[in-house]
Amino acid sequence: MPRPVTVIYRVLPTPAATARAAAQFFSDVAAKAAADRGIARVAISGGTTPKSMFELLADPAEPFLKQVPWDRIELYWVDERCVPPDHPESNYRMTKEALLSKVPLPAERVHRMEGELDPEVAAARYESVIRNTFKLEGAETPTFDLILLGMGDDGHTASLFPHTDALNEMSRLVVPNHVPQKDSWRITLTWLVINQGREVAFLIEGEEKAQVLHDVFLGPYQPDTYPSQIIRPANGRLTLLLDRAAAAKLPPPKDSDSTGTLELR
Ligand code: 6PG
Repeated sequence: MPRPVTVIYRVLPTPAATARAAAQFFSDVAAKAAADRGIARVAISGGTTPKSMFELLADPAEPFLKQVPWDRIELYWVDERCVPPDHPESNYRMTKEALLSKVPLPAERVHRMEGELDPEVAAARYESVIRNTFKLEGAETPTFDLILLGMGDDGHTASLFPHTDALNEMSRLVVPNHVPQKDSWRITLTWLVINQGREVAFLIEGEEKAQVLHDVFLGPYQPDTYPSQIIRPANGRLTLLLDRAAAAKLPPPKDSDSTGTLELR
């Protein structure tokens, strides 16, 4: 059975407000990690949702560009499509255009998944990058300070898609994963790594995600069908940053600041 976890969900009125809350969350977690440990190791997802948040982080008219300790960030990806870095589908390309090209994050601390390589080779190389930069020993699992996730309307997260081999990985940190639903290969962190994150947060928007959010967090535990259910951080806490449309089928938040909690057993 999965470990119990407290899900803290913040419901923002619009996608723009959700992106702003996510930018503030990113900034706060990164600043605390840098203060506590000298470096903030962050793994980000791709897809479309994070783009607005990245743009806010990079916008000189916004406070985040000055708040984030860019010189003490080590940036990783949660997953990548097996395409070249300049491909329209590349998570790296989206992040470079929205964020990396506009912030003072040293290139040597941006760890790209090499989607242009053979999937197995790329996964093995990325695992080595993680082992070397975290200075891991033996079977140690890395503890990222922040892991930022999205969720597909099929309940996938990272590139952990329903009924795919990566869901069954019990030892590796990074694996190639064939996704028949998309007739493509992906590189992804495994759920072992994601659950080791100090702060793990989903950023989810849109009415098309309302039903899957309900099924993942209020429905029966069936992670092969809803891989996001596997995400139960070891720290016992999971944060969801949602717009009102995505949160429509969750219990209305009780707190005045639109925050609710769910206790998953
Ligand atoms: C990817 C992401 C993936 C994403 C979800 C949600 O490579 O696509 O890492 O896990 O977070 O598919 O994507 P949207 O934000 O586009 O809905």
